[in-house]
Amino acid sequence: MELTIAKKLKLNDGRLIPQLGLGVWQTRAGPTCEAAVLAALEAGYRHIDTAAMYGNEESVGAAVRASGIPREGIFVTTKLWNSDHGNPERALEASLRKLKMNYVDLYLIHYPVRQRNRSWRALEALQAGGKARSIGVSNFTITHLNELLAETNTVPAVNQVEFHPYLYQRELLDFCARRGIAVEAYSPLTKGARLKDPKLIGIARKYSKSTAQILIRWALQHGLVVIPKSANRKRIVENADVFDFEISAADMQLLDGFNENLRTCWDPTDAP
Ligand SMILES: NC(=O)c1ccc[n+]([C@@H]2O[C@H](COP(=O)([O-])OP(=O)(O)OC[C@H]3O[C@@H](n4cnc5c(N)ncnc54)[C@H](OP(=O)(O)O)[C@@H]3O)[C@@H](O)[C@H]2O)c1
Repeated sequence: MELTIAKKLKLNDGRLIPQLGLGVWQTRAGPTCEAAVLAALEAGYRHIDTAAMYGNEESVGAAVRASGIPREGIFVTTKLWNSDHGNPERALEASLRKLKMNYVDLYLIHYPVRQRNRSWRALEALQAGGKARSIGVSNFTITHLNELLAETNTVPAVNQVEFHPYLYQRELLDFCARRGIAVEAYSPLTKGARLKDPKLIGIARKYSKSTAQILIRWALQHGLVVIPKSANRKRIVENADVFDFEISAADMQLLDGFNENLRTCWDPTDAP
C-alpha cells in the first residue's frame, strides 16, 4: 500500500482530494491559526479543513497566501453552518470574502438540520457556478444519506464524520464505499481522549510511533481522508510523519476491535 503525504483520492466528481489534511476547529483565529496552517503547508500538507462556524476563515486564507504556494495547489474546505440554511449562496459568499478566495475546493453541509435537502439543491447550483468545486455533507448517517439520495440528483462527494478505532463506523463506511462517497475522518485523535489508552500504547511501542501517529495511519490504511487538528508546530509535523511504516493486517484488525461507539463530538444519529 503506497501511502505518501502527497497522495490524493479521486472523488466521485472526478476531482482529487489530498488524503491527509489539517483541521482547524478550535484553533484560535489570528496569529495562532495562521502559524498552524503555515507550519502544515511547510510540512507538506496540502489540505486545510475549516468552517464558517470555526471563526478562522480569514486566518486560513491569509496563511494560504503567505505560503507562496499557488491557490490551485492547496485544497480548502469550508462548511455551511446550521443557522445559514436560509441562504447557502450568501453564506458561501461570506466565507469566500473572509478567505479572500474565489472558490473553495469543497463545501459541506456541516450538520443534518431539517432543511438539508433543500440546501443541497443550493449547493448543486454553487458547484455548477464554480464557487464550490466539490460538494458534500458532514455528520450524515445512513438514514440521512438514503433520504438525500432519494430526493436529490447529486451524490455527495464526501461525508465527513467522526471516525477512529473507538468509533469504527464499519456499516457507514461500507455504505459510502458502495455509493462512491469518500469518508473523511474528523476527530481522528479522539480529541486526545484515548491517546493514553494502554492497548493503543502497546501497538505504538511496537512500531516506535506515537499513539497519534497510529490513529492517523489506521485511518489512512482504511482509505479514509483524515484531518487531525493541531495548533502546535511539533505535533503538526509529527502527525504527518506517518509514511515510513505500515500497520500489519493483524494489528489493523486489533485496532478495529477497539470500537466502543465513543463520540467525542456530536451524535447525529437522532437528528430527525
Ligand atoms: N464536521 C464536523 O462536525 C467536525 C467536528 C469535529 C471536527 N471536525 C474537523 O476535524 C478536525 C479534527 O478533529 P478535532 O479537532 O475534533 O480533534 P482531533 O484532531 O482528534 O484532536 C485534536 C486534539 O489533539 C491534540 N493533538 C494533536 N496532535 C497531537 C499529537 N500528535 N499528540 C498529542 N496530542 C495531539 C490537539 O492539541 P494541540 O492543538 O495542542 O496539538 C487537540 O487537542 C477539526 O479540527 C475539524 O477541522 C469536523
